[in-house]
Amino acid sequence: MAHTVAVLVGSLRKEPLTRKVANALVALAPEGLTLKIVEIGDLPFYNEDLEKSGPPAEWTQFRNEIREADGVIFTTPEYNRGLPAVLKNAIDVGSRPYGQSAYAKKPAAVVSQSPGSLGGFGANHQLRQSLVFLDMPVLQQPEAYLNHTGDYFDDKGEVVKDDTRQLLQAILGAFEGLLDRHAPATQKHAAE
Ligand code: FNR
Repeated sequence: MAHTVAVLVGSLRKEPLTRKVANALVALAPEGLTLKIVEIGDLPFYNEDLEKSGPPAEWTQFRNEIREADGVIFTTPEYNRGLPAVLKNAIDVGSRPYGQSAYAKKPAAVVSQSPGSLGGFGANHQLRQSLVFLDMPVLQQPEAYLNHTGDYFDDKGEVVKDDTRQLLQAILGAFEGLLDRHAPATQKHAAE
């Protein structure tokens, strides 16, 4: 079954490791998955008052891009053992207005990365806490705490090690399975 997946990148730096991880996921995606990075850096900070006067155009566009996707992959660095504000803002923007969350029921995967040893474990699990409330079935295995990511890529952003490539492929393959299991009934029948 074919699925489109929105990929969010939780770093605004010019050449972040997180975007390199996201780009590698895009490049390594199996045939059934089309991954598209959805930008979050220009989203105004969430403020519920703005919903009343008509939400900012950036919010509307972002919400539509999430709605069009069958699933979401959150790629994130760790900031102070938590997730970066820019990614939390994207979660909040997509989750509202109340009752109209763009994320609801879409399968999700969380891929955290760090040049350090812990692989962004704290950010990964803080993010998962929000995904419970957003009612997103989340990929459990393989767990994706990518550590020492400074060693993952060459100058062109290509993955240098086979075991890294295999881990990213395993994450994508498992996520494809999760998407298949949660695909709406109409999509399942169309594929039969
Ligand atoms: C960090 N960094 C970091 N690393 C980590 O493993 N655990 C942490 O809690 C933190 N905390 C933290 C806070 C802040 C404000 C910054 C700027 C950085 C280091 C971080 O992992 C490193 O800068 C990564 O390279 C950030 O990811 P990108 O921007 O390269 O994708």
